[in-house]
Amino acid sequence: MLVVRNISEICTGPVGPTSLNGELPITRHRKSAIGIEGDTIAWIRDDDPNNWPTDADVIDANRGCVIPGLIDCHTHTVFAGTREDEYVQRAQGLSYAEIARRGGGIKNTVDAVRKCSVDELVELALPRLQRMLALGVTTVEIKSGYGLTVEDELKMLRAAKRLGELQPIEIVGTYLAAHTIPREFDGDGDAYLDIVLDRKVLDQIRAEGLAEFADVFCEATAFNVEQSRRFLTTCADAGLTPRIHADQITQIGASKLAAKVGASSADHLERIDDESIQAMRDAGTVAVLLPACSFYLGVEQAPARRIVDAGLPVAIATDFNPGSSVVESLPLTMSIACSQMGMTPVQTLVATTANAAAVLKRESKVGAIKEGMQADLTILDVPTIEQMCYFAGRNCTRTVIKKGRTV
Ligand code: NIG
Ligand code: FE
Repeated sequence: MLVVRNISEICTGPVGPTSLNGELPITRHRKSAIGIEGDTIAWIRDDDPNNWPTDADVIDANRGCVIPGLIDCHTHTVFAGTREDEYVQRAQGLSYAEIARRGGGIKNTVDAVRKCSVDELVELALPRLQRMLALGVTTVEIKSGYGLTVEDELKMLRAAKRLGELQPIEIVGTYLAAHTIPREFDGDGDAYLDIVLDRKVLDQIRAEGLAEFADVFCEATAFNVEQSRRFLTTCADAGLTPRIHADQITQIGASKLAAKVGASSADHLERIDDESIQAMRDAGTVAVLLPACSFYLGVEQAPARRIVDAGLPVAIATDFNPGSSVVESLPLTMSIACSQMGMTPVQTLVATTANAAAVLKRESKVGAIKEGMQADLTILDVPTIEQMCYFAGRNCTRTVIKKGRTV
């Protein structure tokens, strides 16, 4: 048995998708210890040595706060190359969309990824995941989307799967073949979709366990609503749960489509309108906000307060990728959500634990500290979640426990 004791407070949200308006169902256990048996949380009891066997391994939290292992539910962690030239161009006044229209952006990363083998992609991504783990992140979703041929998309997903076997963070794969229309199919997105939606390809993805989700960039510079609908419903027929990059640059009805196809989430939402917020709430589609992306691009944030006030559950993720958000740190992203979006630290905690777990359909296993749930815990070197967000950009993580093991 493993016991974590001398904790300032255990701070955990509820289990399952939770709206962040009103009084939050956050629990702060004080004077408590956590008992872990194997990979599971066995109990939360008074911090008293009589409550555990004398031969238990004991971790002294040194009066730090303990939170659930953080969940980054939207990333593009597998990629090759860098795009600092675009970063400079934006500083000089060019927009992200204009760079994409001129043939740059995502397509530059596609060129780099196509030249790499699975092993090379793994080698590039491994240190990124090691840094995320050190920041208290224990589950990460990774999208394809920089291959844009069947073979290159599968290659990216195989790299993501291999990464899950090589280090402690659990990896969740997402098939984002509809990230943008590749140069070879310029102006003919439908012909491109015919190829990446081949049923044999989708069955292969499922058979190899490469992805659980499908995602599309529904945007003026990428796929229109009709093409996005076709991509997501065809993938859903093959067993992949829909998600959408929606309402980022223009409002073309993407988040409404998310609600219609029963997507687990619609992500970005910088341009979402009230009607779409209602539609998503009624459909049980979670809003994934990506404050580090708007921060990095220097554009307006998604209307988090309006979404929260409407009672639509919100998750927060880094959107880590080489173009619009090179931010690997989920804790820094939480701080950005606090100071730029008007969310409170406890709201951002629920948004990166219970609600992020719900987006990835893992809410009964991870995302909360509760008896019977998987023992994914982050021990901080500060006494409260408020202090963690307040110290923006500093790593406040002292110890990470994944599946009951100190990593
Ligand atoms: O979520 N918006 C589309 N896709 C990514 C950016 C990908 C890139 O620029 O490489 C995003 O922001
Ligand atoms: Fe993204």
